[in-house]
Amino acid sequence: MTASAVSRQEAAIIGGGVIGGGWAARFLLHGWDVSVFDPHPDTAQRIVEILDNARKSLPALADVPLPPEGDVTYADTIAAAVTGASWIQESVSEDLALKHAVLAEVQEHAEEDAIIGSSTSGFKPSELQQGASRPSQILVAHPFNPVYLLPLAEVVAGPAGDNKQVERACKSLRSVGMHPLVVRNEIDAHLADRFLEAVWREGLWLINDDVATTAEIDDAIRFGFGLRWAQMGMFETYRLAGGEEGMAHFIRQFGPCLQWPWTKLTDVPELTEELVQKIAQQSDAQSGGHSLRELEAIRDRNLVGILRVLKERDWGAGQVLNEHDRFLREQVEEAPAVDSGAPLRLLELTVLPAWIDYNGHMTEFRYVQVFSDSCEALLRRVGMHDEYVAAGNSWYTAETHNQFFDEVAVNEPMYSTVQILFADPKRLHVFYRLHAAEDDRVLATLEAMYLHVNMESGRVAAATDAAIAPLLQLAEAHSRLEKPESAGRYVGQRKQD
Ligand SMILES: NC(=O)c1ccc[n+]([C@@H]2O[C@H](COP(=O)([O-])OP(=O)(O)OC[C@H]3O[C@@H](n4cnc5c(N)ncnc54)[C@H](O)[C@@H]3O)[C@@H](O)[C@H]2O)c1
Repeated sequence: MTASAVSRQEAAIIGGGVIGGGWAARFLLHGWDVSVFDPHPDTAQRIVEILDNARKSLPALADVPLPPEGDVTYADTIAAAVTGASWIQESVSEDLALKHAVLAEVQEHAEEDAIIGSSTSGFKPSELQQGASRPSQILVAHPFNPVYLLPLAEVVAGPAGDNKQVERACKSLRSVGMHPLVVRNEIDAHLADRFLEAVWREGLWLINDDVATTAEIDDAIRFGFGLRWAQMGMFETYRLAGGEEGMAHFIRQFGPCLQWPWTKLTDVPELTEELVQKIAQQSDAQSGGHSLRELEAIRDRNLVGILRVLKERDWGAGQVLNEHDRFLREQVEEAPAVDSGAPLRLLELTVLPAWIDYNGHMTEFRYVQVFSDSCEALLRRVGMHDEYVAAGNSWYTAETHNQFFDEVAVNEPMYSTVQILFADPKRLHVFYRLHAAEDDRVLATLEAMYLHVNMESGRVAAATDAAIAPLLQLAEAHSRLEKPESAGRYVGQRKQD
């Protein structure tokens, strides 16, 4: 199966604001066709801008090519948008009467087995389902902004919910790289916004009482507990704060503080015009130097960086990314590497902000990393998957020759190819090229010799006939390609003698 052979699914996005636009981008970049309905005259322009940001960030989270992007259309009616859609995401403004009217119209025209998710931040599914023709078809799928980067979606089905429907919804959400968190008992504002509201309420008091400014409050979060929360959440973090004696000790030690007047409990300061203006002015002083789009781009780059670190550690949200890579690989890479009459295309990549040196171009060791990732992709393509390595087999690098031809800047898309120069059960001699996707120019090459090793003995050992067969087949196909001009050159040699 190739990427393009994966059947296209259709999503309908009803309400194309900040959240609807984010959903549209997530579905489109995972190969779904998307139909958007929103009467607002700027909808198409907004979606283009959100998609532009998403294209610069979401693909940088995956180490596997995403499926080819789907097509976006703008429907004139809800009926036109939802017809044929297997996922319908309602993301209109947070107004229950409006949501009821929209959901009723959606159900009138939707397929009976389509999933209808609502992005609502606050309403319970039982409230959304009031008066619905098929209540269990509607569930809450509550995302976080930016929807195309943050994996969490809270899934709440409510008392009328149907387990099979919830399972199907979770499967679809996973297929677009999300982590569905099933909220078993419906409550106002689900789980995450409960915390956020408590923190937000305290922030409002601190400003109201002139204790701190918006910038000082944000510093208190982002230089300290925000970093802890991003990677371990609250309870696992507190467990560590309890030291050797653990969680019980922590609660006994700090629990009594809950009786002190540290917080304002659930009181909320009155949002007088004066307080609103005070917050707005402080916020302008804090962030007014950046436009909205600039701030979004800064946020997206930071999130990509944080998520990539968690991915390297296979921890928290990073685990979701690794699982998603495995899922994408199963969809795309199962195609055995066959003779296409050209070097085999391996990885589709984007230059990440963290890969840039002081000149603004991709730094040297990242080229090496890209070629190393390309080697892993090659081995998977010839059937030597993780299990092969887990069974004690590996190819060790014996010799490499790197050549650098052109610079490449941040966010530039690239792809890598490989040409097999020689293969036998013990030796693999290959030539990689890294190309700019824009004009196919060669950015760098790597010639490498690998030796097949039995990791238990630590010695060179022949791969079995069955394991090596696909690689030999590819080598045979590539033997008909012209030898790369610089293959076999020694360092500094300009031309082959
Ligand atoms: N903003 C967030 O951080 C956030 C996060 C998670 C969930 N949500 C939820 O997502 C939903 C949308 O929030 P948002 O922030 O995108 O709001 P938004 O104001 O940016 O977008 C709402 C959109 O709905 C459109 N709309 C209004 N009536 C409509 C109708 N009858 N049919 C189709 N479209 C219609 C509006 O034109 C607007 O573009 C809300 O339920 C909100 O609670 C918001």
